[in-house]
Amino acid sequence: MNLRVIFLTARRNRGIILGMDIHTRETLKINEKGHLEIGGADCVALAERFSTPLYVFDEVHIRAMMRVYRETIDREYGGYGCVLYASKAFSCMAMYGIARQEGLGVDVVSGGELYTARKAGFPAEKIYMHGNNKLPSELEEALDAGVGHIVVDSMLEADRLEEMCKARGKTQRVLLRINPGVEAHTHHFVQTATPDSKFGFSIANGDAARMTEHILSLPHLELRGFHCHIGSQIFEKESFSLAAEKCLAFLAELKKSGYTCEELNMGGGFGVWYAEDDRMIPPSGYAEYLSALIGTIKTGCAKYGLKEPFLLIEPGRSIVAEAGITLYTVGAIREIKGLRKYVAVDGGMFENPRYCLYGSRYTAILANKANEPATERVSLAGKCCESGDLLGVDMPLAHAETGDIIAVLTTGAYNYAMASNYNRNLIPPAVLVNEGEAEYIIRPQTYEDLTRNDILPDRLTK
Ligand code: LLP
Repeated sequence: MNLRVIFLTARRNRGIILGMDIHTRETLKINEKGHLEIGGADCVALAERFSTPLYVFDEVHIRAMMRVYRETIDREYGGYGCVLYASKAFSCMAMYGIARQEGLGVDVVSGGELYTARKAGFPAEKIYMHGNNKLPSELEEALDAGVGHIVVDSMLEADRLEEMCKARGKTQRVLLRINPGVEAHTHHFVQTATPDSKFGFSIANGDAARMTEHILSLPHLELRGFHCHIGSQIFEKESFSLAAEKCLAFLAELKKSGYTCEELNMGGGFGVWYAEDDRMIPPSGYAEYLSALIGTIKTGCAKYGLKEPFLLIEPGRSIVAEAGITLYTVGAIREIKGLRKYVAVDGGMFENPRYCLYGSRYTAILANKANEPATERVSLAGKCCESGDLLGVDMPLAHAETGDIIAVLTTGAYNYAMASNYNRNLIPPAVLVNEGEAEYIIRPQTYEDLTRNDILPDRLTK
């Protein structure tokens, strides 16, 4: 394995991009034809074989990231924990298959994710079921499947679950989602632990303690511990440590009233590299994030005389984002003199809504001319019928021509997962690449798929 590989940062002089510096990265490289490769597969050949738009994932990178986390827990916490892949980042049967083989658990947030995991043969006891408003039907499905843990996030849910378990004569292991009140530096849509949040019970205002007491009074729920998740795309180690400190102080208070927390789930949220100014973290850097967190937990437990809890983390983005790219074919190019150049591709907000939702930035590269310097700044336009349908603005790119293949990097997380059939565009298929070999893990949609659930009442045919 050991691919010699890329990374790209724009070198600039007075606003003009002079070229791209190549760094070392495991997933991507430029081959002797000047084509971009992912996981040993030539992107131009992939585009020819599978057509575009196409999501491509490097299995080796996904597995490497899963191992980094698992091995850190093994090494630094005596293996007393479990890595849960936050499958909302990219949920499909193949991902649950990989997570199972790597010995991970998974976090699911809907009946649909649970169904997909189970259909892929994922062991129920290693599934944690999340959601701030799980439907009664989803709670039933979780109980039917025998999921290991349900993460309770409302009084209504706790009471419903108690009733359901009572009726079944079973006890369910649960965690309670708490809110440590940490403001993480990220887009406010993906901050989850500020005082004003739809998630979790606040430690600061006493709700978490009151809810703990309530769950402990429910005989069919076994409160194993707590969960918190402060947000996503976070780079500051301190934010995670601060959250852990606040959780431990809370556990110390509970200990006084005789409750011992067995499990602590610190959620996900580690940031990834998307574009020019982002920090690029090698896999070992993620081990450092987790080490810092483990260090805080050990220190806090020693300080408060707490038993070290079984530790859970839930990385999603950092496992799969950089393992994925999306390939497009360049269509129309529109240059508005003195204003902007639009390079339109055969995808758009229906397969990657992140620019539209969060103003997210990405890096694009011409996969068939990967050695050419990025001499221009362009806006990548999607094909949907609205002006806001862009994949990015002012992106450094080499001179593009119709028919070129564009790779947008770091699209593995929350792209396919958030895709839609807007404008009745087809959601692109996904292929998994492993040491140069590629195969479908999500097959192409067809027009027939689009109308499968449509009903045309007779009276509308006349
Ligand atoms: N655990 C919980 C409870 C979560 O809510 C999330 C993400 C994770 C774990 C995984 O976080 P990660 O390691 O992936 O940062 N659609 C947005 C991201 C939403 C994140 C939602 N929760 C985006 O595209 O940026």
